[in-house]
Amino acid sequence: MAEAIANGIESRNIDVKALSFYDVKPEDLNDAEAIAIGSSTFYYKMLPPMEKFINETLASSDPKGKIGAGFGSYGWSGEAPVMIAEKMREMGMNVIDPVLRILHKPTDKDVEECKRLGIDIAEKLKHRKPKV
Ligand SMILES: Cc1cc2nc3c(=O)[nH]c(=O)nc-3n(C[C@H](O)[C@H](O)[C@H](O)COP(=O)(O)O)c2cc1C
Repeated sequence: MAEAIANGIESRNIDVKALSFYDVKPEDLNDAEAIAIGSSTFYYKMLPPMEKFINETLASSDPKGKIGAGFGSYGWSGEAPVMIAEKMREMGMNVIDPVLRILHKPTDKDVEECKRLGIDIAEKLKHRKPKV
């Protein structure tokens, strides 16, 4: 899903990195003007290492005012992307609504939907007012 979102962003000529959160460096977050975070739903929540990443690494990167998006695969209840979006909102990010949730493994049509989210992120970035 992350790669398809990144493809959508790239298709609008905007630089993007799709990374495992384990490999994210503080400068990746500092440099980013938009951040999309994904987690599948396990036991009605996001994956605990992702929650730790958001609470500690993302929160300390000063994400206020940046564009945010939550996404994830799920099996029946799909709370994780909604929880990611809530946390982003609490940090003052401009979160894209609705979150992107895909049931189980993405189909070709789902991949297109992921790409569409990437295009939405890219369009929002292009129409943002420059920082003063
Ligand atoms: C132990 C376990 C717990 C799960 N709990 C939930 C859940 O509470 N809600 C839900 O929507 N899906 C749940 N799922 C389904 C997963 O979210 C789903 O299979 C998802 O596609 C996994 O994506 P991933 O392989 O990218 O982690 C659970 C799956 C497992 C194996």
